[in-house]
Amino acid sequence: MTGRTSLTIVLAAGEGTRMRSSLPKVLHQVANQSLLAHVLMAAPQGPGAALAVVVGPDREDVAAEATRVRSDASTFVQRERLGTAHAVLAAKEAIAKGADDLLIAFGDTPLISAATFERLRAPLKDGAALTVLGFRAQDPTGYGRLLVDAGELVAIREQADASEAERKVDLCNAGVMAFAGKSALALIEKIGKANSKGEYYLTDAVEIVRSMGLKATVIETDEDEVRGINTKAQLAEAEAIMQARLRTAALDAGVTIVAPETVHLSADTRFGKDVMIEQYVVVGPGVSIADGAVIHAFSHIVQADIGKKVSVGPYARLRPGTSLGEGVRVGNFVEMKAAKLAAGVKVNHLTYIGDSEIGAGANIGAGTITCNYDGFNKAKTIIGAGAFVGSNSSLVAPVKIGSGAYIGSGSVITRDVPDDALAVERNAVATNEGWGKRFRDKHAGLKKSK
Ligand code: UD1
Ligand code: CA
Repeated sequence: MTGRTSLTIVLAAGEGTRMRSSLPKVLHQVANQSLLAHVLMAAPQGPGAALAVVVGPDREDVAAEATRVRSDASTFVQRERLGTAHAVLAAKEAIAKGADDLLIAFGDTPLISAATFERLRAPLKDGAALTVLGFRAQDPTGYGRLLVDAGELVAIREQADASEAERKVDLCNAGVMAFAGKSALALIEKIGKANSKGEYYLTDAVEIVRSMGLKATVIETDEDEVRGINTKAQLAEAEAIMQARLRTAALDAGVTIVAPETVHLSADTRFGKDVMIEQYVVVGPGVSIADGAVIHAFSHIVQADIGKKVSVGPYARLRPGTSLGEGVRVGNFVEMKAAKLAAGVKVNHLTYIGDSEIGAGANIGAGTITCNYDGFNKAKTIIGAGAFVGSNSSLVAPVKIGSGAYIGSGSVITRDVPDDALAVERNAVATNEGWGKRFRDKHAGLKKSK
């Protein structure tokens, strides 16, 4: 929003006990990115946008995730869990700096969008002291109800405090709020009185705003955008919504996805032009797929750069550190890890390439294995440009195959091979004429005599 500064406070001090996990709730992932990261990426960023994250005691892991995702984030610890208003005041020091807009969001609502944050800020410009994000809940049980009169927000009533009639209201508090900066701190500090749960409720801010003769309003959004995650079932629902969004965005950007509902993407997946994804493909975190690449069915890709016009799969597994140059072909039942392939390399069948560098145009035959691990250390295999590795070869690292060199099928290569050389490791074949027939006759005779 032009000209207005903001502070966003993300509350992430929740225990998340209903997740039944040793991992803190906000570090669970949707589309291979933590719930917290989704919220932090949607919050206002750039010049004039400050960010504070409130974490529970001894939650260095949550604080570290916050600063990993947004290096501009400051973190605050809420020592006791005394309610949402109490949590906000943990970041009092940041609020006191006096941004134009103070935004509050929860770390467990990963589907919130940047556009919604901006919509929430708009009424502040026109003089509102507080804007609350509301949604029509299919089942409002458990949410705070938004009580509206003549277009103005009058109160937020928590489930426990709501009357029979108020519980029938389906307009609910999403938890995201925007305060006009100039009155925010005084307002929140007034929420001194503990209510029914003995907690300090941020939602009480609405009535305080009214008592001061100021205005509070509601901005509505879709329920799907503000689903809070408290259980593994809700985590799975959020994943489904996020996957649908990512696929739609990819399709809109021109990616061909043959059977969209079978493809899993990550929040950070990057696509070039004219990319095609076949059925049942899993794209994990840290993947970029360049122009004209085709990912065939049943492939699994994590932290890999797929170059232009590359063909992957079907049934390929690309693990972290894989980088494929233009026109590379990786075929069925090929696994790669920390493998850098220059343009035009072919690895078409049944192969493991780990900790390797392969020069342009090299051909790696079926069943080639880079033996990169001796039980203690990993070692590197380097294959020169234009080399030809015959089928079923084992390359025992550390080893270097020169450019233009040939490796005879079935060889176990333990020493470096010079450029343009042929290396074969193979015993002479012993041929015994007529042995097969004699063997069969003997056994047939034994059977009859029984
Ligand atoms: C809250 C709202 C409710 C709203 C609902 C939407 C209040 C009082 N109630 O209820 O109106 O409909 O969210 O999902 O605000 N937190 C802290 N420290 C605390 C307490 C909470 O950091 O001391 C954080 C939690 O980690 C969570 C968020 O604040 O991210 C909301 O707290 P939670 O206890 O889940 O509130 P709800 O009962 O869901
Ligand atoms: Ca909640």
